[in-house]
Amino acid sequence: MQNITAIVLAAGRGTRMKSALPKVLHKLLEEPLLSYPLRALAELGIKKQLVVVSDDQDGDQVENSLSEFFAIDWPRQTQARGTADAVTAALKTLDGVSGTVLILCGDVPLLGSETLQLFYQKHRRNRSQLTVLTAVLDDGGSYGRIILDNEGLPEAIVEAKDATPEQLLVKRINSGTYLVDIDLLRRALAETDYDNAQGEYYLTDMVAFARQNGASTAIFDISDYREILGINSREDLIDLEKIMAARISRYWLSNGVTVRFPETVRIGPQVTLGQDSEISFGVSLSGKTEIGGSCHIGAGAQIKNCKIGDQVEIKHYSVLEDAVVEENSQIGPFARLRPGTEIGAGAKIGNFVETKKARFGKGAKASHLAYIGDAEIGEYSNLGAGTITCNYDGFKKFKTIIGRRVFVGSDSQLVAPLKLGDDVLVGAGSTVTRDVADNALVTTRTRQKELAGRGMAWRRPSSEEQ
Ligand code: UD1
Ligand code: MG
Repeated sequence: MQNITAIVLAAGRGTRMKSALPKVLHKLLEEPLLSYPLRALAELGIKKQLVVVSDDQDGDQVENSLSEFFAIDWPRQTQARGTADAVTAALKTLDGVSGTVLILCGDVPLLGSETLQLFYQKHRRNRSQLTVLTAVLDDGGSYGRIILDNEGLPEAIVEAKDATPEQLLVKRINSGTYLVDIDLLRRALAETDYDNAQGEYYLTDMVAFARQNGASTAIFDISDYREILGINSREDLIDLEKIMAARISRYWLSNGVTVRFPETVRIGPQVTLGQDSEISFGVSLSGKTEIGGSCHIGAGAQIKNCKIGDQVEIKHYSVLEDAVVEENSQIGPFARLRPGTEIGAGAKIGNFVETKKARFGKGAKASHLAYIGDAEIGEYSNLGAGTITCNYDGFKKFKTIIGRRVFVGSDSQLVAPLKLGDDVLVGAGSTVTRDVADNALVTTRTRQKELAGRGMAWRRPSSEEQ
């Protein structure tokens, strides 16, 4: 399919979302809606892709959010005057281009590349000049109805709002996805008008045009109608998210991963998981997350854009973003790994530990209650409960560099910029402000005083406590 041109329509207002955000930027499994059709096109190897967006701030926002990830052109539609007008805006940038055009809607996220491939094969086999992707529903609702001739070929599409009561009974509907010869498309669009119930330029009118001008038309019935469901409201959004999440969980279940309570789990479309990993209740895995084999991801964990090695245990309610965790490490429960965290093999980050731009060497540990930011922790070093890197002076961030096999006693503050050599021992309750040489013992707390017999001098037990 490399040589076809794809046009994705995404300039509609999406008013039913009642949102300041353009509809196609609303998220499904943490990914913008529009990224779904764009990924399908990329999987098909289609090189020429255009997304029609509105010629205003919404259009800018859509383009800015996605142009970094997808190589596409962004033709603008000045006013949302209908689907035919949107395609015309794209064709203006395609002078001299010939061949087949695939037209799809930006708000139909579940339509996958496998189905599009079958759709294309049928279009080629039939030598059709226009093929419509269709579905058969019990109730066609607000979809356009496909009117077939005696041979079962489409001769028109009638929008629900323009249909007669008899036409409304037709169960075969238009998905809004088409394969069409570009010359036929150009000629059809030149003739389209807005003489209909919605006063819009209907792309669907190209079917009647094709038939009146002797071009061949065909339909391709999809086997699972859910793939062509579009999103018009927030309710549609969560319904489709549920379908997509269930589909992905089932995929992983049949590919060596145990997904417990799959109805509560959300695994994004770009996430990969290794064999014998196990996902527990209420887990969310999103973005470009890669999880190795034999990992255990505990209840409620949220992991976004992370790379996790083999045999890692992420215990419940840990939150990880833009982090790397190497094999055999343990994270959590209730740990927070912020962007730029790198955890070496066999390391341990325990409960209520927050890290940011911190590299923990092999076997290093921060087992309880710590904040480690802008830091490097050498192999096998151990940071006690309550260790804090003081990395910020209110204006700038500074780095803390800790050597190998260092032990930092509980409740210590490491005031950056700071370097602790290898094998340093920091006494509990220290505030370290100057660099420490290898193998030194450092304490900064005041010496302990003991005043004999003064334990009760300042307080009285109640009668009950005596
Ligand atoms: C359209 C089809 C209908 C089909 C349905 C499938 C027409 C006339 N009707 O109806 O037969 O059953 O899709 O979902 O095409 N858009 C623009 N610019 C515009 C108008 C729309 O870019 O001026 C985009 C929208 O953002 C959307 C797509 O085109 O992605 C479809 O538009 P929408 O208004 O949802 O069309 P429907 O009325 O649903
Ligand atoms: Mg629609």
